[in-house]
Amino acid sequence: MAGTEEKQLMKQDTKAVPANETQCGCQCTRVSRRTVLGGLAAAGAFAGLGGTAMAAAPDAMPPQVGDFLVSPSGTTPLTPDSIKLDSKPFEAVAMSPDGVVRNAEYENTILLLRYDPASLPAETAAKSAEGVLGYTIICTHAGCPLGDTLKNKLLACDCHGSQFDPTKNGEVAHGPAVRKLPQLGLKVEDGKLVVAEAFDSRIGGDMMGEDDR
Ligand code: FES
Repeated sequence: MAGTEEKQLMKQDTKAVPANETQCGCQCTRVSRRTVLGGLAAAGAFAGLGGTAMAAAPDAMPPQVGDFLVSPSGTTPLTPDSIKLDSKPFEAVAMSPDGVVRNAEYENTILLLRYDPASLPAETAAKSAEGVLGYTIICTHAGCPLGDTLKNKLLACDCHGSQFDPTKNGEVAHGPAVRKLPQLGLKVEDGKLVVAEAFDSRIGGDMMGEDDR
């Protein structure tokens, strides 16, 4: 599915689940099959990074080591200064060194944030590039996209209220998510942001709603 269409569908799904809806302890039961399948597809892509190759087109592959980062609408490699310090998340996608923009799957979208490197714990700083951090946009609870603003300095999901701390390797600050947000390793080469390591854990949501059982 094309990236733009997928993004629109995911945002529709997000709106279909009111944040205050109470249907079970974790408010998870209205998550659609399409959203969950999106998470599973992304999970498969992550597994492919570890060994078993997935037959994914280059523009549908998750970020690869050596890729540049670009805005979803551009092909100019981003630099650390493209990301404002202590600002809201900046959406980006990976672009191969030969110019293939990996935007065919919305699940591969990356959220970039920037902090003073000295303020970051060692594990998180080690994956940063001059303070720029990269995380998946996909919530680990049930696969909704995270919001484009921070809430109390945390990455937040409007589907069921999970929040993740970008300054602490994406650890869960508030559930119902129980798994940290996957972080992408970044570095700077010739002044440009480059992928240094694959996501450090599986991309995608863990929870399947009752209507999918
Ligand atoms: S999908 Fe449930 S909190 Fe994000």
